[in-house]
Amino acid sequence: MRVLVTGGAGFIGSVTAAALLAEGHDVVVLDDLSRGHRELVPDGAAFVEGATDDAGAVAQALSGGVDACLHFAALIEAGESMKAPERFFAVNTGATLRMLEWLIVAGVDRFVLSSTAAVYGEPRSVPITEDAPTEPTNAYGASKLAVERALPWLAELRGLRYAALRYFNACGATPERGEDHDPETHLIPLVLAAAAGRRERIDVFGTDYPTRDGTCVRDYIHVADLAGAHVAALHALDDEREVVCNLGSESGFTVREVIAAAERVTGRTVPAADAERRPGDPATLVASRQRAARLLGWQPAWTDLDAIVDSAWRWHRRRWGL
Ligand SMILES: NC(=O)c1ccc[n+]([C@@H]2O[C@H](COP(=O)([O-])OP(=O)(O)OC[C@H]3O[C@@H](n4cnc5c(N)ncnc54)[C@H](O)[C@@H]3O)[C@@H](O)[C@H]2O)c1
Repeated sequence: MRVLVTGGAGFIGSVTAAALLAEGHDVVVLDDLSRGHRELVPDGAAFVEGATDDAGAVAQALSGGVDACLHFAALIEAGESMKAPERFFAVNTGATLRMLEWLIVAGVDRFVLSSTAAVYGEPRSVPITEDAPTEPTNAYGASKLAVERALPWLAELRGLRYAALRYFNACGATPERGEDHDPETHLIPLVLAAAAGRRERIDVFGTDYPTRDGTCVRDYIHVADLAGAHVAALHALDDEREVVCNLGSESGFTVREVIAAAERVTGRTVPAADAERRPGDPATLVASRQRAARLLGWQPAWTDLDAIVDSAWRWHRRRWGL
């Protein structure tokens, strides 16, 4: 297949682009480099610099003929979405729907959306299954859910085959590609930055949650596993017309467990300070992975926290010149 990867200069998109190339697919990356890094785009991929709502750039990306689109391009930081919700709806919802219009006209009939656990909001029970209520508590989650709501209409009325993949906490790195967000808000890179002395300390937000050590539990899913799930989703769309599924491991780690793993892996102390809970942070977010197993034949290979953190540490050390 020839696959359009939007956001392919970002963390998950670049790793997935490399996985597609390794499987023998052709890849064209469309990225406006607003948040991404040109050097993360794999050498074998064609690259178009432009935004998903830039008609000329999308036309250029589609010009060689495209069979499928993996759509990673988005603004991703939930906190930022509560300061500028209009930007999140413009980019994550508006620009996506605009691009979908062009994809459909160009005959691209397979679409994979990077959705998110944030579409669920505060869970009523864990592990979270896909038929749990979708009640986002931030504009980021709402901006993704709005696209999810449009997709069944495009499937029914325009013949689009789609997968909406709701990732939990993406993490880890391959030897070549890792996580470099600005601002960085994800726990593992922040903890590693604290271990490396690149930030003063890590704040542990909330130590009185009803969890095994009082800190929040999150479901960490390695980026290589996410990439594998996207390749699997493209194949699943041969048989399935509409797929909505979680990508998570069905288990979770606490903030303190991540810090302890980082100390073991790096051999350094991670300066940490207890802090108040942040509003809107649920105690535990863990995915059910049963549907992904059934529909995609997928399950995560990276389940060991130290191995996950070690993969990230190796990449960051090189990135930071340590
Ligand atoms: N990282 C996570 O833990 C996580 C969890 C759930 C869902 N997701 C989703 O996965 C996707 C990828 O996340 P990531 O961590 O790789 O983010 P990232 O910021 O590293 O990558 C996003 C890429 O999209 C590009 N981009 C942004 N807006 C664009 C636009 N309008 N047109 C073209 N390019 C644009 C950026 O330059 C960047 O390269 C996002 O859709 C995000 O919402 C991520």
